[in-house]
Amino acid sequence: MKILDLIEKKQSNIPLSQQEIDELVVAYVNDEIPDYQMSAFLMAIYFQGMTDEEIQYLTMAIVNSGDHLDLSQIHGVKVDKHSTGGVGDTTTLVLGPLVASLGIPVAKMSGRGLGHTGGTIDKLESIPGFRTDISVEEFIELVNTNSLAVIGQTGNLTPADKKIYALRDVTGTVQSIPLIASSIMSKKIASGADAIVLDVKVGDGAFMKNIDEAQHLAETMVNIGNQVGRKTIAILSAMNQPLGEAVGNNLEIIEAIHTLQGKGPEDLTKLCLVLGANMLIANGHTDDFSEAKDLLSEQLRNGQAFDKFVEFIKAQGGDTSYLYDTSLFPKAKHQISIKANTTGYITGWDAHEVGEAARILGAGRLSLQDQIQPEVGVVLNKKIGSHVEKGEQIAVLHSNQLESHEAIQRMLDAVTIGNESIEPVLILDRIA
Ligand code: URA
Ligand code: CA
Repeated sequence: MKILDLIEKKQSNIPLSQQEIDELVVAYVNDEIPDYQMSAFLMAIYFQGMTDEEIQYLTMAIVNSGDHLDLSQIHGVKVDKHSTGGVGDTTTLVLGPLVASLGIPVAKMSGRGLGHTGGTIDKLESIPGFRTDISVEEFIELVNTNSLAVIGQTGNLTPADKKIYALRDVTGTVQSIPLIASSIMSKKIASGADAIVLDVKVGDGAFMKNIDEAQHLAETMVNIGNQVGRKTIAILSAMNQPLGEAVGNNLEIIEAIHTLQGKGPEDLTKLCLVLGANMLIANGHTDDFSEAKDLLSEQLRNGQAFDKFVEFIKAQGGDTSYLYDTSLFPKAKHQISIKANTTGYITGWDAHEVGEAARILGAGRLSLQDQIQPEVGVVLNKKIGSHVEKGEQIAVLHSNQLESHEAIQRMLDAVTIGNESIEPVLILDRIA
């Protein structure tokens, strides 16, 4: 294989063979192809796209570049859920216990977050004692006993994705549907899921800015999953404002607890029920969407979803008194009110800007070495469709600094207030 030939082939829109793609990925991971040639190849994909076959080959070449997590010892069909980059997205924390409370195995491998807030692991570690550095054997045992466990990244999964993603990040090649789809699906396949539910976010705060692009990405990912025998369903959901009210680590854990107790924000609850119902369908528990949704609503109402959360936190060493009394979570030193600068209706909350405000306060990281402050973040009191008076509080910053001008400015830039009320639409499409 000569890399220059492959670059030129791709540039001329001639499809590559499975062998060519395999060899390319292996050579790149082994440092046999320099970054400048790989960059040119990625740019050719960016402009020419890839056929379904090529995307399939690329995904499996990335899967085969590293270890696979073997979860075959877990009984039942394991469903994983993945969200394409939301802001204040607490769904994983809610969906795990909610779905597992019906006896469906949820085996979640999760990472530390880069960006607006921490990842699921960072959020769970806000609960004193909670451990995710468990062995794979312990993880499998916990899922078989409790239906639910979370483990930190183990093994050398998809090293090709790590290396290619880092290069895409600095060469303007992140926004490519074949590259995003193969990157996401390779990680889901390598981490052992039998079935996958994808939450594809659409809007200013997301990778996909409009519905057409999002549908294309969703179809591409569903196609990859189904071709390798992993039942895959994608939901398209709006990201024209953050999900729920809380953005920040402790704040989101508390929001997840309330949601599991059936008293969470309406949009977060709704999205969890829709994603959860599709997890039941992907698992084969039922094929009837409204029945699945009713089953899950009942688990929120009867306390079993919350009980499952308590059992899971306890099994991984966490102090469950925090779950029963959320006032035990440390609070930021200052609560700073953000007020509407005009009277009208909220018509948008730029999720990216709100996320940046939370990150500036210390809720997230720019590099993996940064320390997260679990107690800081943002709470939105008024969301799209709400009427507000000039001077009325619309959000609160939870900050450890009295002076938080930059974060305040971000919040004021994030909100738009108009004359007419608009009805927020959360679920935009389903692709299976
Ligand atoms: N998330 C991923 O994991 N990969 C991408 O390429 C984009 C988003
Ligand atoms: Ca939230």
